Amino acid sequence: MEAIQVEGGHPLSGEIIVEGAKNSTLKLMAATILAPGVTTLTNVPNIADVHVMGKVLKRLGAEIEVADEHTLRIDTSGVDKWETPYQLVVQMRASTAVLGPLLGRFGKAVVAMPGGCNIGARKIDMHILGLEALGVSFDIDHGNIHASTPHGLIGSTVTLDFASVGATENLMMASVHACGTTVIDNAAREPEIVDLANLLNEMGAHIKGAGTPVIEITGTTETLHPVEHRTVGDRIEAGTFIGMGGLAGGPLTVRGFDPRHLDLVLRKYELMGLDIERLSDGVVVRKNGPIKPTDIQTLPFPGFPTDMQAQTMCLLALAHGSSVVTENVFENRFMFASELQRMGADIVIKGHHAIVHGVSCFSGAEVKAPDLRGGAALVMAGLVADGYTTVTDVHHIDRGYEGFVPKLTSVGAVIRRVDLPDLGFDSE
Ligand code: EPZ
Repeated sequence: MEAIQVEGGHPLSGEIIVEGAKNSTLKLMAATILAPGVTTLTNVPNIADVHVMGKVLKRLGAEIEVADEHTLRIDTSGVDKWETPYQLVVQMRASTAVLGPLLGRFGKAVVAMPGGCNIGARKIDMHILGLEALGVSFDIDHGNIHASTPHGLIGSTVTLDFASVGATENLMMASVHACGTTVIDNAAREPEIVDLANLLNEMGAHIKGAGTPVIEITGTTETLHPVEHRTVGDRIEAGTFIGMGGLAGGPLTVRGFDPRHLDLVLRKYELMGLDIERLSDGVVVRKNGPIKPTDIQTLPFPGFPTDMQAQTMCLLALAHGSSVVTENVFENRFMFASELQRMGADIVIKGHHAIVHGVSCFSGAEVKAPDLRGGAALVMAGLVADGYTTVTDVHHIDRGYEGFVPKLTSVGAVIRRVDLPDLGFDSE
């Protein structure tokens, strides 16, 4: 079984350049369905989830050329299917991002209902309700969603219960060819939404307001055309390394993203005592004395990102004092805390709140990555723990972090991938 083993006590310094954003790339790839022909996406991260989305698109009839490690040429002129199978959706919930583009291009789609995952139920009721307002009919049977547009896609106003990233994206992509204007109110405002809207507009769509709570899409009968587009830098990958630099020493330079996309995180980290110098395309971070406690509550952008919750809890678990972390976005995103307690953290979970009492140090242990960001945060804890930390279930980390071990090695971490013996009962 593959694991990541890290020896604590080695300070980080040097420079890391992050990749394109996982949470944009996957949707940009899905959006190519709307533009028959060859779209070139650059700054694409070489991560497991991108490979899964590639499989989804190929299953639909697309052809993908990997021009280089970070450039995909996606030809969707041959897309002639509209069914996404369960075995791909179960691997990656983001496969549901093809729902909107398939409806926009074909007026129909069959997508497996995504199951839950380690961080929550991951429903898509807001996607469905919003698309129904655009004239989409749904039948759900045998775990599949059958979507159709008996009277075509009709522009409408949709107010989301919650500023859902996925629902905003599917509605945006489905409405580019709707008859009339669609307004998405209480829309998600993440930088990845803006990146997707930019791609769609470059392709010939008419979208205004991306990045604000109200997005307006004026439907067009013109077929969208393929383009070349550079994926926005990954603010969460960057935030993960910034947290590590602030915890394990620095100066660590993290480039390849827009620091404005991580503004509240950087301001919180400064309040916690980290020394942050902002650059045009990144930051320089330094540990600067003891970590100060602070309270965090996760919210849709520009609020504190849930994808930085585990990494920040790791910092707070070593603060001089107590902090309260409130998770408002997912219903079950504190598993990381349970693993961190194996390393000596003192955290009390009360529903959506985690009371984090700072301790003086972590002790290295074998721990299990609960999800993508929790796994990265356990490696982060291992960087400063006493002794060795072995993080298992590293497939979670490989979903969203390209070259996680070599990047950390390049800035001074003593870290490696190891193969642990399988201690199954049949081995006796
Ligand atoms: C995206 O997930 C990201 N994933 C997540 O990143 C991120 O945590 C999340 O947005 C919030 O920022 C990708 O972009 C691939 P939501 P998404 O729809 O679109 C509930 C990572 O680590 N909800 O904003 O699924 C949902 O269950 C991942 O990179 C409904 O109830 O997030 C969740 O509790 C993790 N019904 C909350 O809303 C719906 O129809 C936010 O979900 C849709 C969502």
